Amino acid sequence: MNIKVLFSPLNADELFFSGKNTVVIDVLRSTTTIITALDNGAKEVLPVNSIEFAMKISVSAFGSLSLIAGERNGIKIDGFNLGNSPLEFDEERVKGKSIILYTTNGTKAMVRAKFSSKLYVCSFTNLSAVARKVAEDNEDLIILTSGSNGMFCLEDTVCAGMLIDEISALTGKTFYSDSVIASCNLSAAYKGDLLKLLKECEHGKTLIEKNFMQDMEFCSRINSSETVPVLVSGAIRKLLPENNLQDELVEI
Ligand code: MLT
Repeated sequence: MNIKVLFSPLNADELFFSGKNTVVIDVLRSTTTIITALDNGAKEVLPVNSIEFAMKISVSAFGSLSLIAGERNGIKIDGFNLGNSPLEFDEERVKGKSIILYTTNGTKAMVRAKFSSKLYVCSFTNLSAVARKVAEDNEDLIILTSGSNGMFCLEDTVCAGMLIDEISALTGKTFYSDSVIASCNLSAAYKGDLLKLLKECEHGKTLIEKNFMQDMEFCSRINSSETVPVLVSGAIRKLLPENNLQDELVEI
């Protein structure tokens, strides 16, 4: 088993991911939001890489059973049902729904990596559950941090480093790539106070200015979820303990 961290989706094209297992991280906030939506009973989340495509499939695909969600500059897009704050994705709003989600970096990273053999979604909130799953897979892994408009992003890299530490502890293996060493060294500096990290990082500061302080607290809750979201046929669903997806997948 080997692990590499890719610090931006722009560092690889779609075919790079073909045949590889990938974990996508966007702590602030899309991967935390997806985990929360599935925990609160959403049927599935469909990540898309443009607002136009989100609107197109929302009118054609699911009718009243779908919600369209997403942000531009952190704020809910006009005409969408929900933004990208995990706090909006409560049971009352999302139970039983198919949610089409567009975000600036996170869902674009998921779409970029859609040809992966297995694609899991990770954040601080489900870190140990994802670590157990990929340790059980025992296969080479790409950890894709969503970054920020193609640039490096601190909180996603810290999450990647913490994930690698847990995989090492579970498998007894040490991973040596430069991207792994850099991620683990960063996580050692920040893992003791994740809320402080989220308050200090660039995107966290921007979100706090836009009155999303509660999101920092929510996104810093380590291992508050046991959910492992997995992308199959364009839809992200909960992987059940016996490795079955919840319900049957609907092709779009
Ligand atoms: C992104 O994809 O860039 C983020 O999820 C943005 C956000 O905080 O809403």
